[in-house]
Amino acid sequence: MESNNLPIHIAIIMDGNGRWAQARGLPRIYGHQEGKQNVKRIVKHAANLGIKYLSLFAFSTENWKRPKEEVDGLMEILRVGLQEERPEFIREGIRVVFFGDRTRLPREVLKEMELTESLTSSNSRLHLAFAINYSGRDDILRATKKISQKVVEGKVKVDDIDNELISQELDTRDFPDPDLIIRTSGELRISNFYLWQSAYSEFYFTPVLWPDFDEKELESAIEAYQSRKRRFGGI
Ligand code: FPP
Repeated sequence: MESNNLPIHIAIIMDGNGRWAQARGLPRIYGHQEGKQNVKRIVKHAANLGIKYLSLFAFSTENWKRPKEEVDGLMEILRVGLQEERPEFIREGIRVVFFGDRTRLPREVLKEMELTESLTSSNSRLHLAFAINYSGRDDILRATKKISQKVVEGKVKVDDIDNELISQELDTRDFPDPDLIIRTSGELRISNFYLWQSAYSEFYFTPVLWPDFDEKELESAIEAYQSRKRRFGGI
């Protein structure tokens, strides 16, 4: 893998934990545990490769529809995972942020998120975002409400609403648009992840399940990205 022409921002839809567990005759939550182990491995490798921005889709606004047991299990994995990994994020110079609607999250999870954000806020080796209770449409919806409110208050004129202003109201405002979006486990769709932000992203789909997506797989995705020609609508 060449270290020039790296994607600046990689976003990953971490899919296939449930199937990884089921293939081994284990309950789905074991797959999520294994998925968490892989988050550690991929975050570390991305930082070592010199990737500056990494987004991980950890829980979508639609994931509440899963059985309560699985939702509770995922929330617990997030809470414990953040608590355990916080010293490592600090040591490794990783700034951690969270995208998504925070209003519906359990208080104990929110507490870990806020503490992790504040204790890593001055780091800049890698900017790491976890999308939790996030969806692309919900992000755009919340941004639309914020802009409408500003129009009502006379702070923004309708004619001044442009792409830049909308981008600035999204949760992702501090992140550049993703250069590369990876989805594991063989599904070929965006599933309401970054809709606005993916306008010119390159997509990489692999049948490998998330717990099996290791350092080599990440490098293969980056190599595929490096072999593509991006034109952004030009020729
Ligand atoms: C998709 O697999 C995966 C999720 C819905 C959860 C992803 C969350 C983690 C990997 C934990 C993150 C940990 C930390 C510390 C942030 P799926 O359940 O849809 O799998 P399936 O398609 O095989 O059913």
